[in-house]
Amino acid sequence: MQNNINNTQDKNQKKYTIVTWGCQMNEHDSEKMAGMLEEMGYVNTDDIQHTDLIIYNTCLVRENAELKVYGNLGELKALKRDKPDLIIAVSGCMMQKKEVRDVIKQKYRFVDILFGTHNLHKLPEFIANHNQTSKMIVDVWEDGGEIVEGLPAHRKHGFKAFVNIMYGCNNFCSYCIVPYTRGRERSRNPEDIVKEIEKLAKEGYKEITLLGQNVNSYGKTLENKVTFAELLRMIDKIEGVERVRFMTSHPKDLSEELIYAMRDCDTVCEHFHLPFQAGSNRVLKIMNRKYTKEKYLEIVGRLKEEVPNVSITTDIIVGFPGETDEDFEETLDVVRKVGFDSAFTFLYSIREGTPAADMENQVPDDIKRERFQRLLDTLRPLSHEANQHYVNEVVEVLIENVSKNNDDVLSGRTRTNKLVHFAGTKDLIGQLVNVKIDEAKTWTLEGHIINE
Ligand code: 5AD
Ligand code: SF4
Repeated sequence: MQNNINNTQDKNQKKYTIVTWGCQMNEHDSEKMAGMLEEMGYVNTDDIQHTDLIIYNTCLVRENAELKVYGNLGELKALKRDKPDLIIAVSGCMMQKKEVRDVIKQKYRFVDILFGTHNLHKLPEFIANHNQTSKMIVDVWEDGGEIVEGLPAHRKHGFKAFVNIMYGCNNFCSYCIVPYTRGRERSRNPEDIVKEIEKLAKEGYKEITLLGQNVNSYGKTLENKVTFAELLRMIDKIEGVERVRFMTSHPKDLSEELIYAMRDCDTVCEHFHLPFQAGSNRVLKIMNRKYTKEKYLEIVGRLKEEVPNVSITTDIIVGFPGETDEDFEETLDVVRKVGFDSAFTFLYSIREGTPAADMENQVPDDIKRERFQRLLDTLRPLSHEANQHYVNEVVEVLIENVSKNNDDVLSGRTRTNKLVHFAGTKDLIGQLVNVKIDEAKTWTLEGHIINE
């Protein structure tokens, strides 16, 4: 959800609220929508009761995100009845699916504007048109077409920023809906990316996260081919940027050249988010992942050799169709061998329209849940152990937040993306400080600021 950024509002100013589900790509799309709305004179508010425009930016990657959107939309019905001028818009991945649009058109008729992932730049036009028609505006493009450059963005933080480097995905992993909602892979020109980051650096942004569904295959669609490793080396030279992160990586496209770029570039943080999804080669093949367990372990080995103290995080799916207990043991084996710093773990969720949804041998829920628990029980001590290595070390932390419950506790992230808590005052948010680690918890670190 967007923060309430502007507190000096004039009463007549129109207000907007954006609620975001899903990944960083969606979060950044919301920042772009916020940028366009602010150029139109809107100001941000989190107060849904007193807003003039609500946008739900939706996600389709797993069923629970989808159900939450329907639940929340239902709650808006009464609000719209009491305040007919309120504009309700729904955007994002769910809208790319015709069946979802049909449900909204039939059951949520109070929605005013419905648009997809490829045409969010038309938001100002939709709002202008809305004032001239009482009908629901529905505009969804099936594919991406030309990349639209130069959209404004109202970023949530003033010190770290997302930057898209590519859109879409060509991989068609058999469980995943993303290629159907985000279209084919398209890379932005390196000059446009560098220009955007130079501007952000001048504005004082310290940390840049490069976004793409599969950043390792960056550049393949460009006329003048540039690899992701080359792009990182270009960005590394930009004055003022302190940290560069990227996500998400696909093991099949992870090159030695990229490992060297991480090793050599001072700004590139020592953290790899490298989803492996499943450990069994049989399952990986049906998932269409195009690597084996052995290959994955080999890449991780190379990363650890070349980049000292690299942290490795991952995504894991439990209960893919046909997954047997033996297959699942292979997943646990990868977890133990790699010793992940942390992992996002998911129960397989049927996504209509993907090949895996039609597979007959779906795993029963109770078995999925039991395996999921075993996975967490395996991950927990390994994460704790990885965190133990930080005790008594001094690490650089970018301060991001103040604790919700205690104004004197700050949190921030190390270059390796570990979350650290320590005492401090909120005027330090956005600063890079040195923190000595006193204690390792399972998922976080505790420490205190030192002056060096
Ligand atoms: N069910 C469960 N998890 C999924 N993911 C993608 N599709 C599904 C699905 N159908 C997970 C993958 C991916 C992450 C973003 O979401 O692990 O890496
Ligand atoms: Fe989905 Fe696979 Fe593309 Fe990732 S690489 S977005 S999991 S299809």
